[in-house]
Amino acid sequence: MHLRSPDFDRFADFCAIVEEFAGAGLHGSGFWGDHQPVLTESGYAAWVQGLLDEGDETLPPQEGRVKCSYFWIMDEDGAWVGFLALRRSLNDFLLEEGGHIGYSVRPSRRRERFATRALAAALGEAAALGIDRVLVTCDEDNIPSARTIEVNGGLYEDSRNGKRRYWIPTNPR
Ligand SMILES: CC(C)(COP(=O)(O)OP(=O)(O)OC[C@H]1O[C@@H](n2cnc3c(N)ncnc32)[C@H](O)[C@@H]1OP(=O)(O)O)[C@@H](O)C(=O)NCCC(=O)NCCS
Repeated sequence: MHLRSPDFDRFADFCAIVEEFAGAGLHGSGFWGDHQPVLTESGYAAWVQGLLDEGDETLPPQEGRVKCSYFWIMDEDGAWVGFLALRRSLNDFLLEEGGHIGYSVRPSRRRERFATRALAAALGEAAALGIDRVLVTCDEDNIPSARTIEVNGGLYEDSRNGKRRYWIPTNPR
């Protein structure tokens, strides 16, 4: 497993992943709203550029958003298996519900420990950004995500609005 930056050359893979999710949320992808514009070559390129811009510290954050690093979860052969977003700070919504880190793994590659390993790698990325502890949340009934967080050292704080909230120290790693 490794994390890589968004890539302009993966349009066909992206279309296949969207199809596999079959309308379920691509958590951690930065992909929301109307799918159709992104499922064209030019729409895809604009989306990838937007993700890179969100991570670019020389650019101001968009209104109501915080700076965010997007990573794609890749397997050892370079196949794209999932998404991970690392928000670099928390606004009111993220502190209550969203947390620092979101992720998803494509359905055909689940239960191979990609989420567990990707979250571990993201903790190192967060530490490198000077974030001492991250908030990671999941729905009350999302057992795979809760396990992913707990296996990575998540300390349960409380539940708010149906979300379990965990803090994970990022240091030492
Ligand atoms: C949550 C998600 C990312 C987990 O991805 P994954 O790569 O399959 O997870 P892992 O293989 O690393 O497994 C993590 C843990 O969950 C457990 N797990 C995975 N799928 C499970 C399932 N369907 N039922 C019960 N436990 C499950 C694993 O056994 C493991 O726990 P363990 O260490 O105690 O054995 C994936 O299911 C997904 O993309 N779901 C939809 C999006 C989502 O919910 N994202 C999280 C938003 S907070």
